[in-house]
Amino acid sequence: MTIRRATVADAAVLADLARTTFHDTFAATNDAADMALHLAKAYGVPQQAAELEDPGILTLLVEADGAAIAYAQVRGDHVPHSVTGPAPVELWRFYVSQGWHGRGVAQSLMERVKAEALQLGAKTLWLGVWEKNDRARAFYAKCGFADVGEHIFLFGTDPQTDRVMTASL
Ligand SMILES: CC(C)(COP(=O)(O)OP(=O)(O)OC[C@H]1O[C@@H](n2cnc3c(N)ncnc32)[C@H](O)[C@@H]1OP(=O)(O)O)[C@@H](O)C(=O)NCCC(=O)NCCS
Repeated sequence: MTIRRATVADAAVLADLARTTFHDTFAATNDAADMALHLAKAYGVPQQAAELEDPGILTLLVEADGAAIAYAQVRGDHVPHSVTGPAPVELWRFYVSQGWHGRGVAQSLMERVKAEALQLGAKTLWLGVWEKNDRARAFYAKCGFADVGEHIFLFGTDPQTDRVMTASL
């Protein structure tokens, strides 16, 4: 397994991985029309190419046996009021392919995310996680994140509540 910074040459691979992992995670527990709206808006080669070219977004790609199996994205964007720690950056997306859950990939990726965030000058890592995503919330708690509040994430037409969690770096 290797973890590397992705480049714009990875746009098609990232688009496919991001779309698939998002759908696998949330399709069963959400409205199909909202899912279709969100997928069309967020995932595709143009969207991921733009993200990979954006200097304010760092994308890490995990590969095993030549296939992309997980990715994470960190960005310096807005910061919710509930995040009060110094020098915050957002862990925007963090997804592992289903067949690799529970096998340590997520831990390795999180260690690398924290190291990269520190290198960017961050001292606080924050994220939003859907309140009903119990597995992810348990994983983040294991990684030292604490629940500090909530914000709204518009999923298609559905305003959903995300828990906001932070970890000191
Ligand atoms: C979230 C994610 C990265 C975690 O990686 P992982 O390899 O599954 O994590 P782990 O198995 O190490 O840890 C998950 C923990 O949740 C627990 N868990 C599993 N299913 C659970 C459930 N339904 N409810 C509560 N806890 C659960 C596990 O037991 C484990 O804790 P333990 O190690 O103490 O037993 C991965 O599951 C994933 O990519 N999920 C889909 C995408 C996603 O939700 N991303 C986050 C978006 S904010």
